[in-house]
Amino acid sequence: MTKKNYHSAFYLILVSVLLIAVFFFLHLRSDSTSPDAYQTITQDGITYLGQGWGMGERQKLAFMSFGSRMLDYSWFIALEKSGSDKLFRDNKNLERLGFIADSRSSYNPDGLPVGITQDSDADGNSWVGLTCSACHTGQLSIADKIVRVDGGQSLINYTQFETEVLESLKTTLAQPEKWDRFVSRLEQTKKTVNKNLLKEQISTRIKQLEQRYAINATDVAYGHGRLDAFGQIFNAVTVEALGIPENKRSPDAPTSYPVLWDASHLDVVQWNASAPNKEPGPLAQNATTALAVYGTIDVLGHTQTYPSSIQIENLGYIQRGFYKLIAPKWPEDLAGKLDTNLKSQGEKIYQQQCLQCHSLVDSQDAKRQLTAVVVPAQEVGTDMRVVNNFSDGGAKTGALEGKHFALWFGGKFTAEASRLDIVMHVTFGALLAHPWDSFCALIKEYADNKSAMLASDVRYYKARPINGIWSSAPYLHNGSVPTVHDLLLPAAQRPKQFFVGNRELDSVRVGNQIAETENTSLFDTSLLGNSNAGHEYGTQLPESERLALLEYIKSL
Ligand code: HEC
Ligand code: HEC
Repeated sequence: MTKKNYHSAFYLILVSVLLIAVFFFLHLRSDSTSPDAYQTITQDGITYLGQGWGMGERQKLAFMSFGSRMLDYSWFIALEKSGSDKLFRDNKNLERLGFIADSRSSYNPDGLPVGITQDSDADGNSWVGLTCSACHTGQLSIADKIVRVDGGQSLINYTQFETEVLESLKTTLAQPEKWDRFVSRLEQTKKTVNKNLLKEQISTRIKQLEQRYAINATDVAYGHGRLDAFGQIFNAVTVEALGIPENKRSPDAPTSYPVLWDASHLDVVQWNASAPNKEPGPLAQNATTALAVYGTIDVLGHTQTYPSSIQIENLGYIQRGFYKLIAPKWPEDLAGKLDTNLKSQGEKIYQQQCLQCHSLVDSQDAKRQLTAVVVPAQEVGTDMRVVNNFSDGGAKTGALEGKHFALWFGGKFTAEASRLDIVMHVTFGALLAHPWDSFCALIKEYADNKSAMLASDVRYYKARPINGIWSSAPYLHNGSVPTVHDLLLPAAQRPKQFFVGNRELDSVRVGNQIAETENTSLFDTSLLGNSNAGHEYGTQLPESERLALLEYIKSL
């Protein structure tokens, strides 16, 4: 090569590198915030509180798949409820299970509720599954208006949904008339249906789902608004992916679906503060979630990295989307004007009694770095089941024995290991099976969060900022307290039983109404894991001061 050619080659490489860099920063990081993103708007009868997303972005995030594959998509669309000839997917039925009805759009061609997605596999099969927004979107009814809360408290009854899908599949096979109607609906979308093959496929899926639900059986039902995410993740990886039935542990410590505004700005996340939130932490956590929520992974058939259904690049987009969210503001026009004097009286009480643990947030600062205060669970005094389940006991490593923790580095697995180490190993194996996608996802979602100082004993609960808390009942990690007013009462005076799933705002006690409706389930604080004790802060205030504090909390 001549000197001139060297030069041209050098410039060509330089220009290509620059172009790639520009591509990353313009394309991958493009934050297309629309002008209405921070304004309250009403569209198709739903009010949105200007939390940072435009309509297009909201729709995209509500239906973007992370690789969840529960059931053949066309079966879900054609399936009837058991005991009725109504479709399972009808809004009324899914609203009963806590889902939020949504409009048809290019992201949601069949008009399914928020978070019920379609995912395609390499063989061209289409699957129905859930995505983040199913568990992280709230909706309230305030003065006859429907108010969507982006990144808010979901009220879905996850296990009831699973149970009823399974039940519907079984009755479809068992009842000839139901079967005929199901097949004729499928025939409207697919040209020919091979009935024998279809029967076989559905039977196989029923067996798989039955096995999965037996592994995850619990004594206390989760009800609306809760799920034991960690318990289900540990079982998905240590029992199902590793094929070791003895690793089964009952996922019986459900937690309330946490709100996601500000979550991606925190130094540490999860109720028990177990997950540092500096990259690649969030990507790993989200990939793990995908595995728990009907993601598929092949660990046993591979030695180094593990192919999975995780839509890694989508995770980067989704995480970036949540980073943009801000807390919803109390809608004074719907829920009542705040009393300025009362509010400033409450602000002083907050500074004395709450601020040391629940810091304030400047939502205007797009790159805010937030710190959660991590409190020993014994000290806050709330139910211990979540922290105990997380920390106690290990699992058999099976096929992982002798492999490095961090794929090619670090110590090696012996016959037993902590369940968290196993989950992290498998998750990184899934991410590194697609290094380019993982790299793109990291660039897309990268946020410079603070490092968390975590002690080795993880029996903690975290106190995060409580802005927007008015919209995210019920309260505490296990959802055991229905309103903020109740939380500010001594534990013995808090409601012992109440219904969860009612979407009507209680603007006086601040939280949701607790009356039974057809969309609710009973919460009983006397059951294991459901204790409403602890967090006795501000509980000795006279009622007048309690109401002042409540007024200030509404304004956060
Ligand atoms: C099936 C329901 C479900 C789905 C789907 C789901 N999550 Fe969650 N998520 C939960 C639950 C439950 C927790 C609380 C876990 C705990 O701490 O015990 C949680 C916790 C979190 C947290 C921690 C918040 C905090 O303040 O500590 C973040 C962040 C989060 N999820 C983001 C996501 C993202 C992003 C997705 C999609 C990639 C997702 N979740 C999908 C149920 C879900
Ligand atoms: C010593 C630290 C500490 C103090 C002081 C404190 N909190 Fe908390 N708070 C926590 C912790 C830890 C949690 C999570 C506990 C759990 O979920 O089990 C929490 C949870 C909450 C929640 C529920 C959050 C949710 O998403 O469900 C609210 C509301 C709350 N606190 C309000 C207050 C108010 C109001 C005050 C002042 C009167 C206060 N806290 C004082 C530590 C504190």
